[in-house]
Amino acid sequence: MNGLSLALVAMPGAGKTTVGKLLARQLCLPFVDADHEVERRLGMSIRDFFAAQGEAAFRDMEQAVIAELATGAPMVLATGGGVVLREPNRDALHRHCTVVYLRSTPEELFRRLRHDRQRPLLQVDDPLRKLRELYRERDPLYRRTAHFIIETGRPSVQGLANMILMQLELAGRVDPLRVPSPVDPGHEGPP
Ligand code: S3P
Repeated sequence: MNGLSLALVAMPGAGKTTVGKLLARQLCLPFVDADHEVERRLGMSIRDFFAAQGEAAFRDMEQAVIAELATGAPMVLATGGGVVLREPNRDALHRHCTVVYLRSTPEELFRRLRHDRQRPLLQVDDPLRKLRELYRERDPLYRRTAHFIIETGRPSVQGLANMILMQLELAGRVDPLRVPSPVDPGHEGPP
């Protein structure tokens, strides 16, 4: 990975964690979920912290965690969906990491998240409408933060990971040995 971390940015439900874990395995890098790191430091779930302290306090903690992780040892980093709302986060990620935006439509995200009870921002009467609002606000910010954009559509997690690895390889950002070959679909990184 050219010594840089690979950071995934996207709306909630786009698959950052699932795809990130697979990419980390293939790139032989540790996987870190920024939301989990925030929860570890808070000592409670994001949902409970939102309810107790509000969104701004959560964003402060998220910003501190991102500043550390973005400049730390190389890893695959899954970020929280709202990470791009703050400019220092966008700068830190763009400057110190290779950033990939997993782009999905609000309708696709709604299909995956309609039973979610964990994400505080989506516990509203009309979550699809909320997703459309968030998307309108955030899509330009994800694009600005990212070096690469992957339209997720409906491929498998492995298919998405392969698309990402191939883009990174074409751009010379990853060792070709780590990119699975189309003639060997079961291949997961170097022997
Ligand atoms: C948020 C998304 C969540 C989490 C928090 C806020 C958001 O992360 O950081 O609930 O603002 O969209 P995921 O994108 O992993 O759901």
